[in-house]
Amino acid sequence: MTDPGSEPLANLLREDRRFAPPAGLAASANVKADAYRAATADREGFWAKQADRLTWAKRWDKVLDWSDAPFAKWFTGGRINAAYNCVDRHVEAGRGDKVAIHWVGEPLDDTRDITYAQLQDEVCRAANALTALGVGTGDRVAIYLPMIPEAVVAMLACARIGAPHTVVFGGFSADALASRIEDCRAKVVITADGGYRRGTASALKPAVDEARTKTDKIEKVLVVRRTGQDLGEDGWDDATDIWWHDAVGSASPDHIPEAFDAEHPLYVMYTSGTTGTPKGILHTTGGYLTGVSYTHDAVFDLKPDTDVYWCTADIGWVTGHSYIVYGPLANGATQVLYEGTPDSPDPGRWWRIIQDYGVTLFYTAPTAIRSFMKQGDEIPGSFDLSSLRILGSVGEPINPEAYVWYREVIGGGRTPVVDTWWQTETGAVMMSPLPGVTAGKPGSAMSAIPGVGVDVVDDGGRSVPNGSGGYLVVTSPWPSMLRTVWGDDDRYVETYWSRFPATGERGAYYFAGDGAKKDADGDIWVLGRVDDVMNVSGHRLSTTEIESALVSHPKVAEAAVVGATDADTGQAVVAYVILRNEAGDGGPLIVKELSDHVRKEIGPIAKPRQIMIVPELPKTRSGKIMRRLLRDVAEGRAVGDTQTLADASIMDLIAAGQAAST
Ligand code: WT7
Repeated sequence: MTDPGSEPLANLLREDRRFAPPAGLAASANVKADAYRAATADREGFWAKQADRLTWAKRWDKVLDWSDAPFAKWFTGGRINAAYNCVDRHVEAGRGDKVAIHWVGEPLDDTRDITYAQLQDEVCRAANALTALGVGTGDRVAIYLPMIPEAVVAMLACARIGAPHTVVFGGFSADALASRIEDCRAKVVITADGGYRRGTASALKPAVDEARTKTDKIEKVLVVRRTGQDLGEDGWDDATDIWWHDAVGSASPDHIPEAFDAEHPLYVMYTSGTTGTPKGILHTTGGYLTGVSYTHDAVFDLKPDTDVYWCTADIGWVTGHSYIVYGPLANGATQVLYEGTPDSPDPGRWWRIIQDYGVTLFYTAPTAIRSFMKQGDEIPGSFDLSSLRILGSVGEPINPEAYVWYREVIGGGRTPVVDTWWQTETGAVMMSPLPGVTAGKPGSAMSAIPGVGVDVVDDGGRSVPNGSGGYLVVTSPWPSMLRTVWGDDDRYVETYWSRFPATGERGAYYFAGDGAKKDADGDIWVLGRVDDVMNVSGHRLSTTEIESALVSHPKVAEAAVVGATDADTGQAVVAYVILRNEAGDGGPLIVKELSDHVRKEIGPIAKPRQIMIVPELPKTRSGKIMRRLLRDVAEGRAVGDTQTLADASIMDLIAAGQAAST
C-alpha cells in the first residue's frame, strides 16, 4: 500500500483561500446548514424524507434492514419503477412539453431537443421492443452505445421492464465487452453502427461482432443507425441483428410500468479493482434512486424550472448513470447531452454549447479543466458564460490551481465549485461542499453531505486527529451503496468490509480504497488511491489488469505497472516489461507493439504513457514486486529505500534505462 501522506500532496494543505457562497444562492438554496443537524439526529428519518422525493407504487415498511450486514436492504417492502419516476410522472404532472434533453451531436448543427413526453413515447416503445425480443424481468442487457439519446432511452427501457443493464463504455475493446457480457450473462446487446469522435465516424458494431466470437451468451443485437456507415457484407447477421428503428419504431408507445421491489437490481457497472478481473458493482432500485435524486438536488441546488444542467461524463461510467440519467431525470431537469470530444471541431466547442443553451449547472472532471487551462483564458473568454451559477468537479483530486482557474475563468469568479467525492460503489456523491452553505477550499471535497458519515482513520480504524492522514472510510450504510459484487458476495465482503471490521463499540466501516487527510479545521482532502488502482484522467484502471494484458503478449515474460503522477492526466500508466529470452530485444517496434496490444485487450484509455523494456524487476526476497521503487523511477525521483530488495543493483539498471529513454 502507498503511504497516504506522500510529500507532493502535503503541499495541498498549505492552501488557505476560501470562497463563501454568493448571498443570493445561500438565501434560496435547496439545502441549508440545518440539514446536517437534522440528518445526524435521525439518519434513517432523514433518508425516509429523501425517499419521499420519489413516487412509490407501494410505500416501504422499513427504511433500513442491516440485520445481515454488510448486505443492506433499503426501503424494504417498497415497490417502485425507476423509469416511471424519471419520465412518466413528470408528464402526468403536466410537464410533458418540458425539454428533458438538449442533445448535441458532434457534427455541428446535428441537434435534437427531446421533451419528457417524447422521452416517454420512446422509452415505452423500446420497453415493448425488448419484451418482444424475449427480455424478461431479471434478464441482463448490455448497452454499448455512443452518447446519443438512444443510450438514455435504452437504459430507461431496461429499468422499466426490470431488466438490469450493464453499460459498457464505447471506448472499451471487444475483449472487454465480451468478458463483461460473459460475467453477467447478458442475452441482448444494444449498440450502434458507430459514433462520431473528433470529426470522423468510428465503428462500434464490429466490436460486438468480435465479442460474439468470444462469448456465446448473446442472443440478439439491437443496432441503432447513427452514422449510416457501411457495415460490410460480414457485418450483419440476420439471425441475431435487428435495427433499432425497425424494432422500436414499430413497437407500441403504450406500456404500463410494473412496480418492482425496492431491492430489485437496477444495473451492474463494471469497475477495476486490485485484481485482474473487473468487478460488477450491483446497484438496486429504491435506495439508489433516492440517493441520486437527493444528491443531484442538494449538491447542484437544482431549480428544475430555470436551470439547464450539463454533465460531460460518458454514459458508460457511473457518473453518466447517476448524474445524466437517473438523478437529473428523476428530478425533472432539463439537460444537455453531448456526443463528442471537447475540442471538436475547435477548442471552443464546450463553451459554445454553454453559451448556446444557457447552461447554468456544469459538471466535469479535473483532467478536462487542466487541458483547457493549458490552452489559455482566451478561448473561453470569447464566449458568454454568464449563465453559469454552479460548477462541479468529479473523478480525481482537483489541484487548487485548476480549481481557481475553473472558478475565475469559467465561472467569472461568481460560481461555487463543488468538488464531489464518490465512487462507482457509492452510487452517489458522498462528500462535497454544499453550494449555498459551505465556504469552499480549493482542492478539498470538504466533508460528508447530510445523511452520510465519513471519517479518516488509522490502520487500526481509529479516527485520526485534525492535521493527520489515513484511510477514507464510510461509517454507516447509505441508500445508494453497492449491494454486492455481481456473482461474488465474498469479494464484496472481502474488498470493502474486512479492512475495518466491527469492534465492540461500532459496526464495520466501508473501506473506500482512498487515502485522505484532515486539515486543521477537520475538512477532508482526498489524496488518491492506496491500493493497486490508478486514476488516469478520472478513469479507474487496475495495475494488475494492465499487467495481465501485457503478459498475454507472446513476447512478454513479466510486467509491472505503476501509476505515475502526471500533470495532465493526474496519473499515467507506466509499464516495466521483461521480454522472453526467445524474443531477443523484441525488435525496433516492440514498444508500439505492446502498446497496441494493451489497447486491443482493454481499450485506448489503458494505453501506457511509457513502456520500459527492463532486464529485471525489483523484488523482495519473497518475490513481491516493489512498485514503490518503480514509481520513484517513473516520477523522476531518487529511488527510495532498497534494503528489502533481493538484488539492489537492479534499481540502478532500471533507473539508467529510464534516463536513457527520456
Ligand atoms: C475513485 C472512484 C465518482 C465517479 C467517477 C469516478 C477518485 C473520485 C474524487 C474527488 C478525489 C476522487 C477516488 C475514488 N475520485 N472523485 N472529488 N476527489 N478523488 O468513479 O471510477 O469509481 O473512481 O475516483 O480515488 O476512489 P470511479
